[in-house]
Parts: sequence; C-alpha cells; structure tokens
Amino acid sequence: MRAVRWHGKLDVRVDTVPDPEIVNPRDAIIKVTSTAICGSDLHLYDAVIPTMQKGDILGHEFMGEVVDVGSAHKEKLNGHGLKVGQRVVIPFTIACGSCFFCEKQLWSCCDNSNPADNQDIPDALMGHSPSGLFGYSHMTGGYAGGQAEYVRVPFADTGAFAVPDHLEDEQVLFLTDIFPTGYMAAENCAIEKGDTVAIWGAGPVGQFAIRSAFLLGAERVIAIDHNPARLRLAAGAGADTLNFEEVDVLDALAETTAGRGPDSCMDAVGMEAHGVAIDNVADLAKQKMGIAFDRPHVLRQAIIACRKGGHVSVPGVYGGVIDNFPMGAVVNKGLTIKSGQTHVHRYLKPLLDHIEAGRIDPRVVITHRLPLDAAPMAYDQFKNNQDEFRKVVLKP
Ligand SMILES: NC(=O)c1ccc[n+]([C@@H]2O[C@H](COP(=O)([O-])OP(=O)(O)OC[C@H]3O[C@@H](n4cnc5c(N)ncnc54)[C@H](O)[C@@H]3O)[C@@H](O)[C@H]2O)c1
Ligand SMILES: [Zn+2]
Ligand SMILES: [Zn+2]
Repeated sequence: MRAVRWHGKLDVRVDTVPDPEIVNPRDAIIKVTSTAICGSDLHLYDAVIPTMQKGDILGHEFMGEVVDVGSAHKEKLNGHGLKVGQRVVIPFTIACGSCFFCEKQLWSCCDNSNPADNQDIPDALMGHSPSGLFGYSHMTGGYAGGQAEYVRVPFADTGAFAVPDHLEDEQVLFLTDIFPTGYMAAENCAIEKGDTVAIWGAGPVGQFAIRSAFLLGAERVIAIDHNPARLRLAAGAGADTLNFEEVDVLDALAETTAGRGPDSCMDAVGMEAHGVAIDNVADLAKQKMGIAFDRPHVLRQAIIACRKGGHVSVPGVYGGVIDNFPMGAVVNKGLTIKSGQTHVHRYLKPLLDHIEAGRIDPRVVITHRLPLDAAPMAYDQFKNNQDEFRKVVLKP
C-alpha cells in the first residue's frame, strides 16, 4: 500500500510499504477514505517531538471502511463487535476501554495501549506514560498512522465509532481529533454565563474551540493569531479578533476587559509559537540548540492575561520542561490550569449529535482536498503558507 512516512526533519515521503495485518483479536483493519494533516503533525515534521524513527507512518486523523476484523469482534467482545463493511471514524487516542483510566473516561491516559517497551522515555520524562497514539512517535506506542491506504486499529471494539451514511466524510472526519480537542478545551475553560474567553491560535483547533465556547455559553470570544484568513474565519464565527503582529496582546486584552482580564484563556498554539517576542526568540534558540523542546510564549502570555480566579486551558501540545514559567502568577491569581491529550472517545456521540443537528459544520476549516501522493507538498505548505493551507484532507 501507499503511506506517508517520516524520514527526518522536514522530510516526509509517500512510500510503498506492506499492508497491515490483524495482530490481536480486538484489531480491525480500516481502508482509509479520508485522512487529515494536523497541527500536531507539524511538531513531528519539525522534529521537535522526540522518539520518531525513520520510516514511521504518519497520521492520526482518519476514517474509512472496516475491511478485516480480529476474532474478538466475531465473538462480539463487550457487545461491540465491528463488522466488515462498516463506515467508522477512529479516535487518535488508542484506549483499551477497561483499565482504571478508561473507566474514569480518561481515555488518553489508558494504561494498556502504550506497550511496555515504549514506556522508559515517557516514564523518565513525565513520571508515567500516556496512552498510545496513532502515528505519533515511539513515546506513544510507535503505532503506524492513518495517512495511508490501510491502517491497523488496536482495541477497535472500543475505538472505532460507526457514523451514519447520510453524513459525508468531511462532516465527521474531525470527530477523530480536532473537534473534540476544541470542545474539551472549551469545557476546560469552565465557561459561565457572560464570560469572555480569549483563544490564542486560530488554526483548526482554535476554530473548533471558538465555536465550542459559544455552544457552551460564552458571551464573547477573542481570537488571537496573525494569519488574516484564519482571523477572518474566526470573526465569521462571531469572535472578536486580535492580530499579535499589530497590537500588544496583553495591553489589548486588558483594555477590552476593563483591566480585569478574560475569564478564561486558551493556548491553542502549543510548543511552536510564532512571533518575535523576546522570550520566544530565546526559546527558539534553545530549541535549535536541542536544550529545550518547547517555545511556550503563548502559555506564559495566557497566564499573565487571565483574570484572577480564572481558567487557563491548554490544548496546545508541549513536550518537555518549560523555562521561565510564571508560577507566581498562577498561585497569586488563583488560576486553574487544565490540559491533556483529548479524551476523544468521550465526545464522539455528543459531538456527532451537534453535527447532525446542524449546530456546527466541521467542513468550514477545510481548505484543500488532495490525493495522498500530494502529502510532501501539503506538509510544506501547511507549515510555510498557513494562511492559505488551513486544513488539508488527503484522499488515499
Ligand atoms: N491536546 C490535543 O489532544 C491536541 C489535539 C490536536 C492538536 N493539538 C495541538 O493544538 C495546537 C493547534 O493545532 P492546529 O491544528 O490548530 O495547528 P496550526 O499549526 O494549524 O495552528 C496554530 C495557530 O497558532 C497561531 N500562532 C502561532 N503563534 C502564535 C502566537 N504567538 N499567538 C497567537 N497565535 C499564534 C498560528 O498562526 C496558527 O494559526 C497544536 O499544538 C497541536 O499540536 C492538541
Ligand atoms: Zn491532531
Ligand atoms: Zn485503558
């Protein structure tokens, strides 16, 4: 089959590789009909996430048709057997469905999906290892991703989620990641009636977060970015916008909230913040020297901007230990910080209901539909031409 593989920094290629096969009884093989490139994939493309290996298959946002299932499905394990021919979306987090964490609905913390062989590095870095993720380094299981013609889905009885035929791929594809991610990030803002939510990053995650914040009752959302087209799309959803190249973000947020600060602040940017702020330039130098994974400029700014007693929500991905972290502000302003890889499984049904009811149309984020072979160009453009390339869907 054809698959998008990581060959090193800024080097992805579409290669011919062996088709995946059933390994475990709960596996399924999916023929991928649509797959997308995520902002998280850029962190791999830029080689700022450790433990990638040359030849790893990328991709964690994908859906398709079940073409083979392991024996457990035929026995209807947990009453959830999958059938060949079913059309399904697959959460990017791999979860067993029955461990301590899965039972608490903390699916991205599953204890059984990241093989023990892969846990030494996350254990040393973070104290514990997270769940397995598709196509996202050996720290999270080393699983082959879904930017490919076929993919093996472990624990498919709990993961694969059947979608109705009257919805087209592009309406449901983003249930795999960015819609639940934006939604969980908005939930983590603990929005109350009348609240103002500031969201850094008007990328696909930020766009879903803006719409989710309104769904959850925010009165006002302020979107911060520097890409004009992304800010226009945010404004179209009802957000006020700030271009961080044109205004001082902290001053502007203080001014527009009468000095109090937004009730909640969301970092939907993560470890590769743009901009020429002094701390960001220093972080970039450290990242280039290999002595830091992250450029946490936005996280610092969100903490400083947030009103006393407010919530800071961090869907943006970070990989390591952060310098110059304003802990004094967190303590003395009584802030609550919430984060996490998204517990996607938890959100599949409720967010499908929002799509079916027409309360949100996920297709608005898509800018490009391309064949799988265009992946190298698409990665390059998604990194270097973000205003035009907001969300690329690949059709294997
Ligand atoms: N927690 C999760 O489970 C999860 C899931 C998906 C994505 N993510 C993460 O969410 C983040 C966003 O993903 P995306 O797909 O929208 O990525 P993206 O790269 O398309 O968008 C990021 C946006 O941030 C903007 N930005 C950069 N620096 C900024 C700054 N200083 N101030 C304001 N905006 C700035 C960029 O211009 C861009 O529009 C990434 O870190 C990604 O890894 C997390
Ligand atoms: Zn993603
Ligand atoms: Zn589990």
